[in-house]
Amino acid sequence: MSPVKVGILGLGTVGCGTLNVLRRNAHEIARRAGREIIVTHASARTLDKPRPCDTQSLRLTNQPMEVVNDPEVSIIVELIGGTSLARDLVLQAINDGKHVVTANKALIALHGNEIFNAAQQKGVMVAFEAAVAGGIPVIKAIREGLSGNSIQWLAGIINGTSNFILTEMRDKGRDFDSVLAEAQQLGYAEADPRFDVEGIDAAHKLTILASIAFGIPLQFDKVYIEGISNITAEDVSYATELGYRIKHLGIAKRTAEGVELRAHPTLIPYRRLLANVDGVMNGVLIHADAVGSTLYYGAGAGAEPTASAVVADLVDVVRTLTTDPENRVPHLAFQPDSISEIPI
Ligand code: HSE
Repeated sequence: MSPVKVGILGLGTVGCGTLNVLRRNAHEIARRAGREIIVTHASARTLDKPRPCDTQSLRLTNQPMEVVNDPEVSIIVELIGGTSLARDLVLQAINDGKHVVTANKALIALHGNEIFNAAQQKGVMVAFEAAVAGGIPVIKAIREGLSGNSIQWLAGIINGTSNFILTEMRDKGRDFDSVLAEAQQLGYAEADPRFDVEGIDAAHKLTILASIAFGIPLQFDKVYIEGISNITAEDVSYATELGYRIKHLGIAKRTAEGVELRAHPTLIPYRRLLANVDGVMNGVLIHADAVGSTLYYGAGAGAEPTASAVVADLVDVVRTLTTDPENRVPHLAFQPDSISEIPI
């Protein structure tokens, strides 16, 4: 079978990581997907800057819509971030009958309902594993591994930057600003790091997790949000003295009234597993009726961990291309018409 041609929008940390993973593991990926996957066209804001990936064999442009409109490309990987241009590009791609893979949590949390409806109408896939918890396949775990369960609650460390800051403050006595600057250098932080330290990024991810876990529409505006920017060195050391760790958690809980959604710093007894998820690592604990508690742990940010999830989605989409569009299971938790509004 001929290779599947992919266009990437954005060649930053994750874009380059995706190119590198696709190239390094091309043989295994092709065997798993059933077809070779090649990136033929990509867009980047700056064309001539040095990058940690080889772009020689692709067409490069600074006009992302050119990639979306490329008739040879059948899957668009959206990695530019933000919600305005990204929304336009993704909706255009869907409208042109292309499948979409995205790592953009803000886009899915804020515009996912509209995007999924458009995708449903066009019979295309929208996959977004990389949007939550970086390399941890937690969306696949909920959707596939826990599909026989009724999920009662989930609690996760889902912002790597905040966790990295809290860990370095506790273990090395470093100050907030210098650790944040390092997280930015390492490519963990958002373009606007307030999204990380004010809890917004975690709230985006929680919105997505809750939608899949509880079958509710994406409702970012219902999340109570508090970040770590007011946590002081004293808070961290008192918590340690009392046998606790401060962790920023995203929590979604089924209650009699609906689903409760909140993202804020918490105190966790130091012996608990989540209390020991440190550095840029993420951990998501899910409690469900049949299986009980399960914990998902791994790198929550960074080039190749996030690329791992992007490539897994590409493989999923390519496998699906061989199925009749009528019989495709959409990349949603539920068919939109079966989503029941749970008051929050
Ligand atoms: N800024 C995000 C984080 C990147 O620190 O978790 C991964 O989504």
